[in-house]
Amino acid sequence: MSDRLSIHDNRTGNKHELDLSYGTHVDAGSAISASDLREIKTSDHDFGVLVHDPGFMNTSACKSSITFIDGNTGTLLYRGYPIEALAEKSTYLEVAYLLLHGELPISSELDEWTTDITNHTFLNEKIKKFLDGFRYDAHPMGILVSALAALSTFYPKSRNVHDQDIRDRSIRRLIAKIPTLAAFAYRYSVGLPYAYPDNDLSYSANFLNMMFRATETKYDADPVLERTLDVCLILHADHEQNCSTSAMRAVGSSDADPYVSVSAATAALYGPLHGGANERVLEMLAEIGNVKNIGHYIDKVKQGEFRLMGFGHRVYKNLDPRAKILKELAEKVFEVTGRNRLLDVAMELEKVALNDEYFVKRKLYPNVDFYSGIIYQAMGIPVEMFPVLFAIARTSGWLSHWEEMRKDPELRIARPRQLYTGYAKRDYVQLASR
Ligand code: ACO
Repeated sequence: MSDRLSIHDNRTGNKHELDLSYGTHVDAGSAISASDLREIKTSDHDFGVLVHDPGFMNTSACKSSITFIDGNTGTLLYRGYPIEALAEKSTYLEVAYLLLHGELPISSELDEWTTDITNHTFLNEKIKKFLDGFRYDAHPMGILVSALAALSTFYPKSRNVHDQDIRDRSIRRLIAKIPTLAAFAYRYSVGLPYAYPDNDLSYSANFLNMMFRATETKYDADPVLERTLDVCLILHADHEQNCSTSAMRAVGSSDADPYVSVSAATAALYGPLHGGANERVLEMLAEIGNVKNIGHYIDKVKQGEFRLMGFGHRVYKNLDPRAKILKELAEKVFEVTGRNRLLDVAMELEKVALNDEYFVKRKLYPNVDFYSGIIYQAMGIPVEMFPVLFAIARTSGWLSHWEEMRKDPELRIARPRQLYTGYAKRDYVQLASR
């Protein structure tokens, strides 16, 4: 097989040979260099051919060895390991290590990593004063985006993104502190005193402790809920070049520090078409309210009035493997928490949509957010915290991509081109003459 692609330019009759590069295997695709297309011109004044790709539907922005997705077969691998195996056998902190370092840790490495993360969970006390400035009803995602950016000012050395030791420390701090920031944002919004981290607890149990601890000295999370949260974090930890990861890479490509870069990625995640979707799923279920209203609601979706939240995915045109895992997990959670009316609406909605021609034809399956929203709701986590949980999980993924990007010899500041469609040069018109 030739590793070159020939392009015949019908405008000039010229033939161009472009080099191809390949991913690990044929499912990972091949790519030409977009810059090579610039050589295809009709004259010396011609700017050359650009790739026009709004929404980056088919543009490879980097080489990456972190996560592989095959949307047609519903495959998701972190560093080669199937998501199903990691969800069954691993823990979030182990997966974070895997994403960042490329290999599963041996026992001593995992101990050191866990201890290091656990020892960095506390926040500078001044962060509490910063939080005090927010309105009582501030959305915790807004607080998180701002507080993450504010953390950058507490660690000015982190701006030296060329120093490996400093980068490593920033990475550990961010993974350790984001659950504390998130839980503080929640406690602030409900007027509860902050619950400090408990370093005797696992990453997930500690988060539940900081969310829900009341007067007890030691918070005792239900083991099913603790494990469920950990699995949810594993499933959301990375998903290759999605909107927020691309934001992380774009902002980081200007040598911005990792705190402001994670803040920018969190802002991208906030949108309802991305990490804000599981919040919208619950709003939608509340709006439907009752199983008997589902038919009418689906009709409106099909008429294009709005979208069914938690359905569809840019990459998966088959069942999202994460959704499958969460669906099974949901049943275990309901055994602990009991069912409620919204859960019944969700289950019936799923059944109706999966059998409806509109959704079948467009390959619209429930995505990870459909089930994560239902699970979090059953666990007593308030709706506004859903995207926050997503941000906690994705922090390890964002930082893995950031670290990979920092070591990439092809790293250039992100700066897309455009196809200009405005006026050609024209003369300024004086106000009186317009
Ligand atoms: N409900 C109803 N119709 C839908 C939905 C939906 N949720 N999603 C897509 N469609 C329809 C579109 O109207 C379009 O129909 P048409 O061909 O008749 O015009 C067709 O399916 C294709 O839709 P696109 O917009 O081209 O799909 P795209 O890949 O751009 O969008 C997205 C993917 C944004 C996830 C979309 O499916 C959506 O808006 N879903 C709801 C929001 C959501 O759940 N987001 C979470 C995504 S998962 C995550 O971020 C972790």
